Amino acid sequence: MKLFDVYPLNNIAITKAQGSYVWDENGVQYLDMYGGHAVISIGHTHPHWVTRIEDQLEKIAFYSNSVVIPIQQELASKLGRLSGKEDFQLFLCNSGAEANENALKLASFYNGRKKIIAFKKSFHGRTSLAVAATDNPSIVAPVNETDNIIFLPFNDEQALKDCFAEHGKEISSVIIEGIQGVGGINIANDSFLQLIRQLCDANGAVYIADSVQCGYGRSGKFFSHDHAGVNADIYTMAKGMGNGFPVAGILIAPSIQPKHGMLGTTFGGNQLACAAALAVLEVIDNENLINNAKENGNYLMEQLRSIEGLQNVRGRGLMIGFDVPEELKNLKKKLLYDFKIFTGEAKPNVIRLLPSLALNKRQIDDFLDSLNEAIEEIKAERLMQNA
Ligand SMILES: Cc1ncc(COP(=O)(O)O)c(C=O)c1O
Repeated sequence: MKLFDVYPLNNIAITKAQGSYVWDENGVQYLDMYGGHAVISIGHTHPHWVTRIEDQLEKIAFYSNSVVIPIQQELASKLGRLSGKEDFQLFLCNSGAEANENALKLASFYNGRKKIIAFKKSFHGRTSLAVAATDNPSIVAPVNETDNIIFLPFNDEQALKDCFAEHGKEISSVIIEGIQGVGGINIANDSFLQLIRQLCDANGAVYIADSVQCGYGRSGKFFSHDHAGVNADIYTMAKGMGNGFPVAGILIAPSIQPKHGMLGTTFGGNQLACAAALAVLEVIDNENLINNAKENGNYLMEQLRSIEGLQNVRGRGLMIGFDVPEELKNLKKKLLYDFKIFTGEAKPNVIRLLPSLALNKRQIDDFLDSLNEAIEEIKAERLMQNA
C-alpha cells in the first residue's frame, strides 16, 4: 500500500531526538528550531515525560469517558494553577482542529447563534467549521463552505466595530490567534483583543482564543492572548500541550454551563494522554520554561535584528518570524541541508522559529553563527554567478 501523498517532504528520516536536537538515520545531528511545528514545548524525549508516560502505560493507557478518570482532574487543577484560569472548566480532546471545532460549536450552543468572525491570514485547522474559519480557500472543500463566517482584516478596529454594528446580535463568536502562526507570525494588538472582549460582552458573543500554536508558554505568558490583560471565554490548546503526545483541550469560562451530551469524544482525556500532559506542565513549572521562553526569545530577537538582510523581525517569546528578501530565498533550505538546522516557514517569504521552550543561550548562539555564515555563503554564491 502507498501512503496518501499530501505532504511535500524533506528527504530526511529522523530516528532519534533529545532536548533541542534530532538525529537522522545516519546519525547526523540537527538543531531543531522548528519544534516539529511548535509541538515540542519541554524538549524532545524529556526524561520526566518519558518516565511519566512509561509509568502510566504500566497501569492503564485507556478507558473511555464512561467512568471517572481522576488524572483528568489532576491535569485540570495543575493547568488552572499554571495558566491562572482556575475558575475555568476543562474539556479534553485530541487535536487543535478538534479543539477549535468544539469551541465554535460550544459558543453556538451557548448563545444559539450562527455567525462567526474570523480574520484574514488565520489558520484554525482542517475539520469542517475550523477550516471554514481558516483564510485559505484552497483547503476548504465544497462541503465545508458556509456563509456563516465573516472574515475581517487582522488588527482593524474600525472594521470590527462596523461588523458588530451591522450584525451584532447574530454573532456567535469571534475566533482569533494571539499570534498568527501559519499566517506568518502576526501579533494581535493588545488594544484589538481588548476591543474584541468589549464588543463580545456588549453583544452576547463568545471570544475564542485560538492558542493552539501561540499558547502553552511559548509567547512568554501562558496564553499569548494574556498579554492584552483581558480574559477570553474559551481558550483552545493542542501542540505544546503533550510535547508530541496527541492531546488537546479547551478551557471554558464559568459563565458557560455544561450539559450532558453537549460535547464528547472517545479518545479525549484518556489516562495516557493526561499523564503526558501533566508531565509537560510539571516540567514547564519546575524548569521555569515560560520565563526561559521570554528571556531567550528576547535575546534571540535582539540578535536577529542586527543581522543585515533579515527584515521585520517580530514575535513574542520563542515564537519568532522574519521576512527573507528575494536574494536570500534559499536560506531555509541552506540552513537545513548545509548547516543541519530545522526552521519553519510561512508563505511566501517568512522564516518561522518555534523551538522548544527549553532552548538555551548556547544553542541560540550556535544558531546565529550558522545563520550569519549561511547568509554570507548565499551572497558569495550570488557574486560568483553574476561574475
Ligand atoms: C493556530 C492553529 N490552530 C489550529 C491548528 C490545527 O491543529 P491540528 O493540526 O492539531 O489539528 C493549528 C495547526 O497548525 C494552528 O496553528
